Amino acid sequence: MIQLEKLVIASNNPGKLAEFQLLLQPLGIEVVTQAQLGIKEAEEPHLTFIENALAKARHVSLESGLPALADDSGICVDALNGAPGVFSARYAGFPLSDERNNRALLEAMKTHSNRSAHYYCVLVLMRSAGDAQPVIAEGEWHGEIAREQRGEGGFGYDPLFWLRELGKMSAELTREEKHAISHRGKAMKVLLEKLKAH
Ligand code: IMP
Repeated sequence: MIQLEKLVIASNNPGKLAEFQLLLQPLGIEVVTQAQLGIKEAEEPHLTFIENALAKARHVSLESGLPALADDSGICVDALNGAPGVFSARYAGFPLSDERNNRALLEAMKTHSNRSAHYYCVLVLMRSAGDAQPVIAEGEWHGEIAREQRGEGGFGYDPLFWLRELGKMSAELTREEKHAISHRGKAMKVLLEKLKAH
């Protein structure tokens, strides 16, 4: 098992931080956030999720001198050739807005009958900024893009992410229900297994 005493989470998203803390608690790892250490967010200039996650983890590990855990995620729509993809957070430009992103996605999908989409998440754990063998875990969650928004839970594109087998939008799931089946929940399970196995 990889021995870690303290880890910096390379994110300032409160929802993600709570999920990471919950995951790492059983391993007895002390978790601090990059904001607590006064570390600014890294740029995300790359065209793949994995490159962005590596950049975030390396940046935070370099600045803190500690192991770092970063994630990168987004929604990929088949009819749009994988868009919004790595641009999910800024699909409708700046200032960032989930509401404008959702409206932009509905507009882009207006003429498409193929509504298939998936969320993707990659997690990267670097023991140091020079770690040549970071621990990497991925997760996917498949669904469809609905024709109108529904539900108050979750964040981002959740009011549009239709889960046919459940008859619900992902914004209609509880936090626990979502975590059990989501791309981030799956990636976290894989990461935990890898940490235990190493
Ligand atoms: P990140 O913080 O750079 O990983 O940006 C991820 C973006 O992808 C978010 O801002 C959302 O727009 C979208 N996204 C990722 N995961 C989810 C999810 O679980 N629900 C809804 N939107 C998500």
